[in-house]
Amino acid sequence: MTDPAMVVSGLTKCFGGVTVVDDVSFVVERGQILGLIGPNGAGKTTLFNLLSGVLKADGGRLAVNGTDATGLPPHRLARLGLVRTFQLARELDQLTVLENVMLAAQDNVGERLMGALLRPTATARAERDAQERAWEMLARVSLTPHAGKRAANLSGGQKKLLELARCLMAGADIILLDEIAAGVAPHLVEEIKHLIARLNRDHGTTFLVIEHNIGFIRDLSSRVVVMASGKVLAEGSFAHVAANPAVIESYLGQAA
Ligand SMILES: Nc1ncnc2c1ncn2[C@@H]1O[C@H](COP(=O)(O)OP(=O)(O)OP(=O)(O)O)[C@@H](O)[C@H]1O
Ligand SMILES: [Mg+2]
Repeated sequence: MTDPAMVVSGLTKCFGGVTVVDDVSFVVERGQILGLIGPNGAGKTTLFNLLSGVLKADGGRLAVNGTDATGLPPHRLARLGLVRTFQLARELDQLTVLENVMLAAQDNVGERLMGALLRPTATARAERDAQERAWEMLARVSLTPHAGKRAANLSGGQKKLLELARCLMAGADIILLDEIAAGVAPHLVEEIKHLIARLNRDHGTTFLVIEHNIGFIRDLSSRVVVMASGKVLAEGSFAHVAANPAVIESYLGQAA
């Protein structure tokens, strides 16, 4: 029996008459790290935008953790456990790393305001709990020593770790990563790779990873989906897709 974290069925998206995501279907099993690769313009980021509710599909369906999630906006998908990383907002730059993680807790703003008016003690407790959880998430991404730093003062790679901590704080058990290794110093790419593997192993977090760094995909993915011209060109283990002549011709030939 399979236990899918996500079922993608026939997702389609057109921009001005051009079909950019074309009838894409695949299943992401729970606890899997699924790599999504393909040439520039293949439709990978657009597919992520459909999966995370940033864009509405023109057709097709999506199920997340056993629930029909077709057409849901990002915050509703987050409640189902699916979150994608976002570049840190500029206005959060001046807050500390710890505060950035605390603010990623779901639905906390309204609750806090309400609580502050009605039940000050309960609010203090909720804030203490949030802070405790935030410390735990920082430990998971090895950012504890930087908790008191302003987010603006982190390196590019450390900002990626903070983005991951924010996903975890939001309660994500499915995380979508769009080129998290791009532009990151090589030693931090290794650290991010090991972190993803550790979160997957120790906490069962499911990942969908878009990367042009093929070593990253090879080392991490238990399954790979290859897209080209909006369609799924091949899928299977890394070794399986890497041996596929169509994949070599459309992508790996130029990447190698
Ligand atoms: N908002 C938009 N309006 C019109 N066309 C778009 C829009 N977003 C993406 N596209 C087009 O859709 C196609 C797929 O783009 P997408 O960014 O999804 O590719 P990708 O696989 O992520 O590429 P890369 O590897 O370069 O990031 C491209 O031809 C792109 O120009
Ligand atoms: Mg892209």
